[in-house]
Amino acid sequence: MHLNPLQECIQPEGDTNFKNLLHKIGEVCEKLPVPVIVKEVGNGISASMAEKLINVGVNAIDVAGAGGTSWAMVESERANNYLRSELGKTFANWGISTADCINDISHQFPDIPLIASGGIRNGLQIAKLLALGTDVVGLAYPFLKAAIESTEAIDQFIELLNAEIKTALFCTGNKDVNSLQKSSCLRKIN
Ligand SMILES: Cc1cc2nc3c(=O)[nH]c(=O)nc-3n(C[C@H](O)[C@H](O)[C@H](O)COP(=O)(O)O)c2cc1C
Repeated sequence: MHLNPLQECIQPEGDTNFKNLLHKIGEVCEKLPVPVIVKEVGNGISASMAEKLINVGVNAIDVAGAGGTSWAMVESERANNYLRSELGKTFANWGISTADCINDISHQFPDIPLIASGGIRNGLQIAKLLALGTDVVGLAYPFLKAAIESTEAIDQFIELLNAEIKTALFCTGNKDVNSLQKSSCLRKIN
């Protein structure tokens, strides 16, 4: 099941039939013996959508918010006609930012496990999202970029992410990531 209506609108071969999707997600949750994670693809999940997902039995949410990889823009680049190319550009930044999604959902539903992805580019952003209430952070584009370069570039990037997270922990007086999740001061720091 896909949660990418915007991308499907712009894709020439797009399938815009999302009828009864929430109900179908509920059926999957009911029948599968394993926990179900619902994930967006770069436009974010609002607190009211999170509520609907939680009510049908979803166990965790990857908000995949706006601000990073844009499938509208990818489809605009792929488009072979004016209409789709321009439609993709208009909606390139469509969505709720990852930070807003995490902030809003974690306030209303503190017990639902959250994954923050979409536009995360460094360890300081990771630390801030952990302080905002996410449990896990996901990055796609920066790893893809490094992977195109070399294996060493991936190692170097991971090392930098670690150093950035540790620096954020040290400068806020938090001994580990768990204590960061309970600390409010990082939320106010630039
Ligand atoms: C090359 C590529 C392929 C992806 N394929 C999928 C996919 O099949 N399903 C999905 O839910 N998300 C997919 N994503 C989205 C990522 O999992 C993630 O939500 C998003 O790209 C994270 O944002 P970022 O790229 O700005 O870090 C893909 C991302 C990239 C870069």
